[in-house]
Amino acid sequence: MKKYKIGFTAGVFDLFHVGHLNLLERCKEQCEYLVVGICNDDYVKKVKKTTPIIEEKDRVRIIDALKCVDKAVLIDIETTNDKMLALEKFGFDVLFSGDDWKDSERYKKTEEQFAPLGVKIEYLPYTKGVSTTDIKQKIDKN
Ligand code: CTP
Repeated sequence: MKKYKIGFTAGVFDLFHVGHLNLLERCKEQCEYLVVGICNDDYVKKVKKTTPIIEEKDRVRIIDALKCVDKAVLIDIETTNDKMLALEKFGFDVLFSGDDWKDSERYKKTEEQFAPLGVKIEYLPYTKGVSTTDIKQKIDKN
């Protein structure tokens, strides 16, 4: 038996790399069923102010095909920003997030909202030295 039943994590997952894989494998180590929210193209354009290289439906397909992922679903801006909305939709008992979010105002608030519902947040280590932004820069230099 794993620590949690249904786990949820969210991200863009553009240009899939080993940092993404590490994160998702660590999530799956702790839950029986892992749902991954894939931020839609509209979110990336409006919030991250960039255009994803891999379009949303393909990012969903790639993540959905991984052994460590049970279900990948496309999520909109509201669901990405408001984890209570994500909780209503996906009914998880743990939210996984990068440890760079720990102690942020946004996550402190989410912890307070989740606590009475018995939903936990687990912060996982960010893999150093690789990111989608780094990959794009390397390609630009070639
Ligand atoms: N992630 C990670 N280690 C990395 C890169 C990403 O653990 N080296 C995690 C993030 O913390 C997040 C998920 O993978 O939980 C999806 O991250 P995303 O923002 O899509 O990937 P990045 O490569 O960080 O993208 P960008 O460079 O555009 O910020």
